[in-house]
Amino acid sequence: MNRIRVAIQKSGRLSERSLGLLQSCGLRFAHSKDKLYWYGRDFPVDLLLVRDDDIPRMLLDGVCELGIVGENIAQEVMLESNAGGDMTQLRKLSFGGCRLSLAVPEDSPVQSASDLDGCRIATSYPALTTALLVERGINAETVKFSGSVEIAPGLGIADAIADLVSTGTTLRANHLVELEVLFESTAALYGQMAKLTAEKKTVLDRLLARLDGVLLAAESKYVMLNAPRDSVEKITRLLPGAENPSLMNLEGAPERVALHAVCREAVFWEHLEALKAAGASAILVLPVEKMLA
Ligand code: PRP
Ligand code: ZN
Repeated sequence: MNRIRVAIQKSGRLSERSLGLLQSCGLRFAHSKDKLYWYGRDFPVDLLLVRDDDIPRMLLDGVCELGIVGENIAQEVMLESNAGGDMTQLRKLSFGGCRLSLAVPEDSPVQSASDLDGCRIATSYPALTTALLVERGINAETVKFSGSVEIAPGLGIADAIADLVSTGTTLRANHLVELEVLFESTAALYGQMAKLTAEKKTVLDRLLARLDGVLLAAESKYVMLNAPRDSVEKITRLLPGAENPSLMNLEGAPERVALHAVCREAVFWEHLEALKAAGASAILVLPVEKMLA
């Protein structure tokens, strides 16, 4: 068996982007709607669709070789099982951004995190929260909640919560205010590298090379513009993350050139305005679909 299994979230914040990312790497799956196991059709990588909270444990238990999960969940499991060495973060991904924050009821006497000494804090991430509180010298007790952490203060079970915040809607809806960010998290690809056979390692390396290409392409843009021949150096410096542009002659306009470059950082309107001010015209910004370094 030299197939690799990747666990991703079945339904939730990370599901669509996780599947989309693997599909951008050219993976195609055969599946029936409610099945949790999707077979990789032309690449030996299969999918397991599970609850995100179960993914780190599945990696540690060797049920799958790869998993896409929030750093917050991965950290929690690594801390509680003390087994960080067996689960490696292979790539940080650009989606699923959120923060683990301390929050209290709007009318709470607690004004800052340092007022939380001796308080009870409800959270789904007790190990991570405890570690982060200790780092900050806050001496509080955590109470484990598996879901709906935001209702704990209202029920009188806790003085504060430590929960994931993304848009802040959940906090506002429950009349809670954010006190302090404890941890910034995004989705990441994790691997269980210890027991990989040589064949699986080869598959993993191929997948990672494709993934790097996709990640690089996602933030890259292909920029085309016309520029005065004597401003080429200045204009190249204004292009974010670009090096060695291609220059082409413009028929009938000897004093101007066409300049093409790959920008490996985001290109904003401000960049385009600066380019125009430096003499560039006919500026086009195109997405890059694939890239193999
Ligand atoms: C988190 C958290 C809140 C919500 C916050 O849950 O527990 O319920 O997101 O988001 P908001 O600030 O945009 O309102 P998560 O998406 O991780 O779901 P899960 O706990 O069911 O995995
Ligand atoms: Zn979850």
